[in-house]
Amino acid sequence: PYLNTLAQSAGKLWFGTAMDTTTREVSDSAYMTVFNDTQIFGQTTPGNTMKWEFTEPSQGVFTFSEGDETIALAKATGKKVRCHNLVWSSELPAWVTGGTWTNETLLAAMETHIKTEVEYYGDGCWSWDVVNEALDSDGGFTSNVFYETIGAAYVPLAFQYAYEAVQSLGADIKLFYNDYGIEYSGTKHTAALALVQTIQGWNNAYIDGVGFESHYSTSWGASKASQLEGMSDFTELGVQIQVTELDVGCSSVPCSTSDLATQAQIYYDTVSACMDTEECTGMTVWDFDDEYSWIQPADYDGEGDPCLYYSDLSRHPAYTAVAEAI
Ligand code: XIL
Repeated sequence: PYLNTLAQSAGKLWFGTAMDTTTREVSDSAYMTVFNDTQIFGQTTPGNTMKWEFTEPSQGVFTFSEGDETIALAKATGKKVRCHNLVWSSELPAWVTGGTWTNETLLAAMETHIKTEVEYYGDGCWSWDVVNEALDSDGGFTSNVFYETIGAAYVPLAFQYAYEAVQSLGADIKLFYNDYGIEYSGTKHTAALALVQTIQGWNNAYIDGVGFESHYSTSWGASKASQLEGMSDFTELGVQIQVTELDVGCSSVPCSTSDLATQAQIYYDTVSACMDTEECTGMTVWDFDDEYSWIQPADYDGEGDPCLYYSDLSRHPAYTAVAEAI
């Protein structure tokens, strides 16, 4: 069963995967054979290379070559690109995190960054994750240089700048807010709903959609019912949803038989919730090969192997579960 073919036949835009041109993936021909198979993956998201530290390493000096590579690889196999991301607390260059800012100077730097990047990639991007992970689990704003300097208004302002850039291009590029822990009811979910409404109410800002990152582990996942409810809370506000970074780590590696079953169930529940939600338009895994996943046991307290494929590119049981869910 081919996941993207199934998803597109069922009316979704795609089943896609993140990939990262900064790692060894692009020179791994076995990996690239799967990546390039449009029947399996119809979309890609660059895992790192469009983030601020890569694209504007010094103020006003833009380096777009890595992102260009992603767009070229995508075009070669007819994939759309979810461009990721314009404003985030992490993977910022030192000149941003360590700069001496006023409200006015940081807003100007943010506006330049957003508009230059959106205008450069143009309609090579199907969408942009304009602001990534602005919220804490307690529902407050994550402390970062933007929040500390500008206040909560940095979020709608970022959407305003992105929208202005899209308008000046005359292009239809979708603008998303992307986060984790917002997929089911709770304090952060409620805060994200309010944030969407703030953006919607902001003069000359626009938001098309919300990305549910959907990073889970076998020790904890959200049920299909809770995800369905989580999706409908957002779609009632008139935005579309996408599952943007799905992975489910095994609590230890190699995955035990019971972990593999739990992993398959969480993949199934997530994909199935999207399939049953008309306004959930696409699903993306945060890479498909355990070897290149960001969830490596050494960094995540033993957790690992969260993808649909093992390092030898044989498939986890979760692959079949996803195909069944679609
Ligand atoms: C991760 C990348 O996969 C890693 O390679 C990098 O070291 C850190 O960022 N949420 C996001 C993604 O929105 O951008 C993150 O990607 C994973 C969590």
